[in-house]
Amino acid sequence: MTTSHWILGPGAIGRLLAHSLSPMAAVTLIGRRALAEQQWLTTPEGEQKSQLLNTFTVAQLASETHAPPAFVHITTKAMAAEAALESISEVIPSTTPQVLWQNGFLAQPRITQVWPGPVLCATTSEGAYLTGDDGVVHAGRGATFIGDLNNQHGALAEALAQTLTQAGFAATAVDDIRSRLWQKLAVNAAINPLVALHGVRNGELREAAYAGRVKAIVKEVAAIMQAEGIQPPNGGHGEDAWRALVLQVVENTANNKASMLQDVEARRPTEREAILGPLIESAQHHGLPYGVLQALDDDIAALEAGYSESAT
Ligand code: PAF
Repeated sequence: MTTSHWILGPGAIGRLLAHSLSPMAAVTLIGRRALAEQQWLTTPEGEQKSQLLNTFTVAQLASETHAPPAFVHITTKAMAAEAALESISEVIPSTTPQVLWQNGFLAQPRITQVWPGPVLCATTSEGAYLTGDDGVVHAGRGATFIGDLNNQHGALAEALAQTLTQAGFAATAVDDIRSRLWQKLAVNAAINPLVALHGVRNGELREAAYAGRVKAIVKEVAAIMQAEGIQPPNGGHGEDAWRALVLQVVENTANNKASMLQDVEARRPTEREAILGPLIESAQHHGLPYGVLQALDDDIAALEAGYSESAT
């Protein structure tokens, strides 16, 4: 029997998944609004491929009966994930495995707590961006890790990792997904808010002008990571290891516009709540300093609040 995958959220990763899984599985790509069936993918080698994808709106889905999917992949932004699941929860059995692809650490613990079926979390460094309603560019290959927060669904994570690997993702099932999500969040917290506030590409953070701010953010983040039991990266120690990782990512992505900067430029809500929120909450819980992180959160919140003001 062909495995069926529903992909909820036709953003860059959602469409990349749909293109990759479609040749080998039954894929349904679901969005709030209608999407063209003919979709284009530009591969990292620059090749253009088109595929007819099975696209549905949430409303269409609700008005018809469907065979239950083997997996639902939620590929929305972090703050939209719970509402997205809610929007289809009536049309799938509550035992359906969910796969959460969000940044940060907001949707993952919440959905793990409330959804009766298995909840897997995925973290990926695949690079992709949209080029309008019918195109996605797979900009760079990366690695994908899959696991669940309570380590209860190892076999399911393994099965999905194998399927995704056959589909062209380098996917591995892991038993430390919580650490991996927090590690990514640490890097995101050090890069995303700063570049979004200053309107610069990631590589600018190498400049001396930003050194003090990066150091101050990493100092707070490193202490929070320690309190959360997240090991410093690459076998290193404390703050220095976290700073080295941040600078390595800045170097590797020097030419990128980080996702939060893209959101600010497009006047979309950012993922600050999913990235800075859990860090601030953890610092409060453990009695650690978080003044620098709070200031970043306030500044981004002010920027977002200004979207509507300057539009009127
Ligand atoms: O959010 C992003 O854009 C990326 O996670 C990162 C690491 C900041 C690189 O751009």
